[in-house]
Amino acid sequence: MSLLNFGINKLTLGKVNPKGDFFGSLKSVYDTIQADRNAAKSRIGEGLQRSFNESYQSLLKETIDVNMLESVLVYMYKEEHIYGDLNAALRQHDCTEKSITSAEYNLAAYATALLATLLYWQTLPEYSGTTFRVMGHVPNIDQVLEKYEVGSNVVFPAFTSSSRVPLLHFGTSDEFILLKIDNSQHSFWSPNDIAKLSDITGEQELLYPCLAEFKVMSRLAKKPYKTKFYHTIQIQLVENDNSLSDDAIPFGRSGQLHFFLILLALINSMS
Ligand SMILES: NC(=O)c1ccc[n+]([C@@H]2O[C@H](COP(=O)([O-])OP(=O)(O)OC[C@H]3O[C@@H](n4cnc5c(N)ncnc54)[C@H](O)[C@@H]3O)[C@@H](O)[C@H]2O)c1
Repeated sequence: MSLLNFGINKLTLGKVNPKGDFFGSLKSVYDTIQADRNAAKSRIGEGLQRSFNESYQSLLKETIDVNMLESVLVYMYKEEHIYGDLNAALRQHDCTEKSITSAEYNLAAYATALLATLLYWQTLPEYSGTTFRVMGHVPNIDQVLEKYEVGSNVVFPAFTSSSRVPLLHFGTSDEFILLKIDNSQHSFWSPNDIAKLSDITGEQELLYPCLAEFKVMSRLAKKPYKTKFYHTIQIQLVENDNSLSDDAIPFGRSGQLHFFLILLALINSMS
């Protein structure tokens, strides 16, 4: 069972089956959290306590008022403790049959609760202006650039940070990538403005839920930045409505997402 499916299972005590209706299941997860935040907190905390104790301590400390749970889930993402492992796990599981480690199982409920919160929590403002994302450490630049062929679609399997302004100082490799993202299309995956929930001022962060899909619009010639160079790629968030049905998800337009969902279905059918 995939990481997110395991999270759905854990948070709903197996009452919701993601098979065939993955996105509807995430709405059920969100409703389950809203119905009993204390129970959700304890199910998320159970795994974190085993493998991510610092995040577990934050969860306990910041949710003394359990009505804060949704904002704390986002706040925890912005702490240093868990996001690296979380995103690494989501990137690895989108296109391989790598078995899930115990640490990954232990973050599954948190990952799924965070995804459901970003998708359905109305309090978090969505942003439709232009965002910028620096892919700062790209040692294999040619290999990565190949994936951004103009006219093709790309899917980001992990939660993805961006900002209202280009944070070029995140560039660490000799050549890196600046994504300029047009979010004007109506999309299920519009970025969420999380600046108010973060301790880090200056980033003005807009966070995309995992599995956001983009169309590559154009690529510009590389430019210098201090002693380095960066390649600007203009991409556009793919349009769709906010329907909960899997039919609304643009399977056919993305090989990677299509593959991911086939894999989910395959793994489900075996579990
Ligand atoms: N990157 C930004 O523009 C940006 C904007 C706002 C806030 N932040 C904050 O900065 C911190 C680090 O963010 P991050 O975006 O570097 O973390 P990340 O975990 O998304 O990325 C980690 C590293 O992996 C590389 N990477 C990520 N996706 C890739 C892909 N599809 N192909 C090739 N390489 C890829 C990146 O270049 C980066 O060096 C976080 O706290 C984040 O919230 C970053």
